Amino acid sequence: MGHPRSDIDVIFTADQISQRLTGLAEEISLLRLERLAVIAILKGSFIFAADLIRALHRVGMEPEVDFMTLSSYGKSMVSSGTVDILRDVAIDVNGRDILLVDDVLDSGRTLAYAKDLLSARGAESIRICVLIEKEVDRAIDIGADLKAFKCPKMFVVGYGMDMSHRFRELPFVGRVVSA
Ligand code: IMP
Ligand code: MG
Repeated sequence: MGHPRSDIDVIFTADQISQRLTGLAEEISLLRLERLAVIAILKGSFIFAADLIRALHRVGMEPEVDFMTLSSYGKSMVSSGTVDILRDVAIDVNGRDILLVDDVLDSGRTLAYAKDLLSARGAESIRICVLIEKEVDRAIDIGADLKAFKCPKMFVVGYGMDMSHRFRELPFVGRVVSA
C-alpha cells in the first residue's frame, strides 16, 4: 500500500493500476500495429509509460520508444492554452504506427498538438493512449483511443503526475485534500 498520507485521497491504487495496465497492453496487442513506436509525452507520463512498455513486453510486443517534452501548464493548474515543445523526438516517424502516450487527457490541447505534429511528419497511424481521460468538455474535440481510467473533473496527482513538481513519486493516483 505504501506510506499512508493524510493529505491525499487515493483514487486509483497501485494494484488497480497494475491490473489495468495488463488489460490495456492486451488491447494494444490486438491492434496489430506494425513498426510500432511508442512516444511518451513528458514529464507527466514517465511512470505510466515505463510500466506500460513493460506490460507490452509481457504480451510479446517489441516497440521502439522515444520521448517528447511538451509544456502547456507551467506551474499553474489551469491550461495556458499554448503548447511548447521543450524537447523533440529523435526518431523519424514517417511511415510508422505511433502510440502516443500521455498521463491525462484534459482540454485536449497537448495531445491534439502532438498528434498534428506527428501526422504532418508522415506518421502512418497515430493512436492516443492515456492513463486518465477526464470527463470534461474539451477545448479541442479529441478522444483517447485507449485509456486506463476515466475520472470526473478534478486535479489528480501521483504515479508521475505533479502539482508544482510535487507528488510524482506516489505509487497511486490521488487527489490533494490539504497541501
Ligand atoms: P490538456 O492539454 O489540457 O489536455 O492537458 C494535458 C496535460 O496537462 C497533461 O499532459 C498533464 O501533464 C496536465 N494535466 C492535466 N490535468 C492534470 C491533472 O489533473 N493533474 C496533473 N496534470 C494534469
Ligand atoms: Mg503532461
